[in-house]
Amino acid sequence: MQLIKEKRKSDISDILKRYPADRKKSALLPILHIAQEENGWLPVEIMDEVAEILDIKPIEVYEVASFYTMFHLKQVGKYVIEICRTGPCCNVGAEELIHYMENKLGIVCGETTSDGLITLKPVECLAACGTGPVFQIGPEYYYYENMTKEKVDLLIDELRKKG
Ligand code: FES
Repeated sequence: MQLIKEKRKSDISDILKRYPADRKKSALLPILHIAQEENGWLPVEIMDEVAEILDIKPIEVYEVASFYTMFHLKQVGKYVIEICRTGPCCNVGAEELIHYMENKLGIVCGETTSDGLITLKPVECLAACGTGPVFQIGPEYYYYENMTKEKVDLLIDELRKKG
């Protein structure tokens, strides 16, 4: 089954040219990014197709896709708010903000709002520990730093307006 669209196959071929033929597995991360861009998330069937392209076992793809939080293993909303929940951000209020957002959106971390707009995803350190609490929102992966409840309200209003 071909789930990755034909137009992206040439992008994949270009990436594969960067690696020796017997080291195709090295292209796994960029190819997973393409696969996710196409579909919005990575269902098992697409990860299996990636394994086939790279001549590796499907489990090797699952291991990598499940390790990195930028890959989504279930359907996500249009905006994925990744919230750092590592110690330094928790010390300045990240957990409280997570609860605030869960209540505001009526979901818990890992879930998506019923309108399909926003997913809350807890992640580990986003490397901006001095300006926590920190959020990151894809697909551009902009950072939102020194977050507060007031900033969360503005951010969610903005995302709802953008739709
Ligand atoms: S602990 Fe949150 S960005 Fe590092």
